[in-house]
Amino acid sequence: MAKLGHEVVAVDVDHERIAVLAAGRAPFFEPGLPELLTESLATGRLSFTTEIQDVAGADVHFICVGTPQLEAEFAADMRFVDAAFEDLMPHLRPGSVVAGKSTVPVGTAERLAARLGEAAPGATLVWNPEFLREGFAVKDTLHPSRMVYGVPEGDDGARAIAILDEVYAATLADGTPLVVTDYATAQLVKVAANSFLATKISFINAMAELCEVTGADVKALADAIGHDDRIGRKFLNAGLGFGGGCLPKDIRAFMARAGELGADQTLTFLREVDSINTRRRVRMVTLAREELDGSLDDKRIAVLGASFKPNSDDVRDSPALDVASQLQLQGAVVTVTDPHALANAKAKNPLLTYVARTEEAVADADLVMLLTEWDEYVALDPRKLAGIVSGRRILDGRNALDRAKWRDAGWSYRALGRH
Ligand code: UGA
Repeated sequence: MAKLGHEVVAVDVDHERIAVLAAGRAPFFEPGLPELLTESLATGRLSFTTEIQDVAGADVHFICVGTPQLEAEFAADMRFVDAAFEDLMPHLRPGSVVAGKSTVPVGTAERLAARLGEAAPGATLVWNPEFLREGFAVKDTLHPSRMVYGVPEGDDGARAIAILDEVYAATLADGTPLVVTDYATAQLVKVAANSFLATKISFINAMAELCEVTGADVKALADAIGHDDRIGRKFLNAGLGFGGGCLPKDIRAFMARAGELGADQTLTFLREVDSINTRRRVRMVTLAREELDGSLDDKRIAVLGASFKPNSDDVRDSPALDVASQLQLQGAVVTVTDPHALANAKAKNPLLTYVARTEEAVADADLVMLLTEWDEYVALDPRKLAGIVSGRRILDGRNALDRAKWRDAGWSYRALGRH
């Protein structure tokens, strides 16, 4: 927002995080973010605070807090959205616009708008979901694929549209498509998009299961069906499946919400999407056992990658970390490496062994497993690694390696959905 020319005050209850940001450091790994932060702080248009009253003078208030999955349920934990909203309300004035960015169960905006009507008359709520991907957050924010405004009917809605148009003037001038709609649709757009993406991944992973039993090749299959632009090749990469802080919890919260709305049958297919996805992790462990002659006991396994995807240090519901933990639980001696996610991985699973250098991780390994396709792992030279490992066995959990290159260098290569 500061880059787009606005004056921005960012508030959070996490003092440590605010201190880090105010010092110009990004609290997580995201390509391009440190540079953008430094640039924006230098303009004087961006400031950080833990004091909610510091936002009182703003015209537009974005609510961006997380909606993680509840501990023992599929539903989303709404405490952070509700708390942010309640804290903000005393500082609103007639004409203020509150824009919801958080991914929420449909119906939340309607509930919050009613609350706003009681506690801050004259302020207007809009729902303005975001679609950024981790690893591409800066690009996706400055050049989004589309913009969605969910607004109330009438004059309040028209005024809010005009204000958002001003906020996003530069983005809209770039030709970004804009969809103006009601609250319910705007909230659904976000979860529908993530559910579709998750379904696409699980579809190709289901095909991978069939490829495994028929001897077919899922990569060639994805290429061939992807040439049909009604299908498209994107998000058809078979492998360990999806993780992270969005897709898994969003499809679960969506199912939970559909149940609450009395439409429980509508989304039962997402249960299948979820189980195909988790099955891939189990299959990966089975493949490892097969490669190691039927037993994981005391076998040395090097795991390349801990984050849920490359270019992120996020380990929330990381398929890689999950598989590494399972292998260890089943008796293997596992060493995990990752270019940026080691600190987060260690905090999440302190029992695994972590090393910073790839060479150290694969030294004397009986099996090497690529579980997150960071560029530096994809570019590894199998000839060089051949001399350090104890057994030349590689499992490609992301169908990202050059199979021929590894086989030519004397490795046994296996992947999910390919022979
Ligand atoms: C996802 C959506 O892509 C964003 O549009 C959305 O804004 C975001 O969630 C959100 O809800 O905030 P993200 O979680 O950053 O973004 O990650 P994705 O790029 O969607 O990848 C999710 C997972 O799917 C990763 O574990 C990735 O490895 C896996 N994946 C992706 C595959 O297994 N195969 C593919 O072909 C693509």
